[in-house]
Amino acid sequence: MARHLITSAIPYINGIKHLGNLVGSQLPADLFARYQRARGHEVLFLCATDEHGTPAELAAAKAGKPVAEYCAEMHEVQAKIAEGFRLSFDHFGRSSSPQNQKLTQHFAGQLADNGLIREVSETQIYSHADGRFLPDRYIEGTCPNCGFESARGDQCDNCTKQLDPTDLINPYSTISGSTDLEERETKHLYLRQSEMREKLGEWIDSKHDWPVLTTSIAKKWLNDGDGLQDRGITRDLDWGVPVKKGDADWPGMEGKVFYVWFDAPVEYIACAQEWVDAGKCEDWARWWRTDKGAEDVTYTQFMGKDNVPFHTLSFPVTIFGSGEPWKLVDYIKSFNYLNYDGGQFSTSRGRGVFMDQALEILPADYW
Ligand code: 2FM
Ligand code: ZN
Repeated sequence: MARHLITSAIPYINGIKHLGNLVGSQLPADLFARYQRARGHEVLFLCATDEHGTPAELAAAKAGKPVAEYCAEMHEVQAKIAEGFRLSFDHFGRSSSPQNQKLTQHFAGQLADNGLIREVSETQIYSHADGRFLPDRYIEGTCPNCGFESARGDQCDNCTKQLDPTDLINPYSTISGSTDLEERETKHLYLRQSEMREKLGEWIDSKHDWPVLTTSIAKKWLNDGDGLQDRGITRDLDWGVPVKKGDADWPGMEGKVFYVWFDAPVEYIACAQEWVDAGKCEDWARWWRTDKGAEDVTYTQFMGKDNVPFHTLSFPVTIFGSGEPWKLVDYIKSFNYLNYDGGQFSTSRGRGVFMDQALEILPADYW
């Protein structure tokens, strides 16, 4: 009997997901989990809600609710819909869990101890109308790479390039629409991804059986331009995992939180801890620690193509850089976008068929 660890990209908490999300991660992951179970193998299949960052804050503000309350409610809604589709997760966790907070802070501490984090004073965009810094998705503008006009501050949806908000041309606030923006100084932590360029390159080159969609995106960001860029992993937000070095405070980083893409993949691991703490099983380490039995686990991740850079570059840097024996992914299955009426599905723009509507139209097995 082989052992299969399977994760589906964890959906953002900001509303009910559309069929594009389902087709691009949860559904194929579920099929694969059912297939391996049917073959008699031992399977741990995990998913969760991705609850931090600007998508959560923006959606809560729109719903007129405190963000913690909004997330708790939407987690239940997403869990019910997953049940409706009979997605066979062993546990459906939450990235805002205490387990994930602790583990994320632990990884940051390890990375700092191993010299893989640097502190940077930088200019960020401050909005006078909103009275705050505008990170990531609070800003949209024109992509400097492909010219797409509604590129977000963290990534262009059209060409997948990872962006910094200051890269955008003609930026505006997505909260107020204001273009009265100013660049101001603030201090942040950067993950020194560039230090690991060679190691990542060798690792990706050794994956001869990975889909071309996965390796081509990974290699593009590894080799394009000046090569792999260091990434800011903290934000000036209230909602998120507070910046700490393990259990200790991080001088100068008070009131800041980790970037959502730093803590989200850590939730794959924390989710297994939540699964144990919920009394569903006794041991998570035999799935996740190669010093505790996970060396014979096969780990497969499922995701849409926009998630590939974070799973092939940033998260592996966290795992390698920790210097600890965490299980690394064996196979990354990625998907192109499912289109709707000639364009992209979009949660934030309310475009497409959503999972709750789909279940009202036809039973889950049809979909
Ligand atoms: O694209 C998304 O919906 C992200 N919330 C996926 C995160 S996957 C992982 F890193 F946790
Ligand atoms: Zn672009």
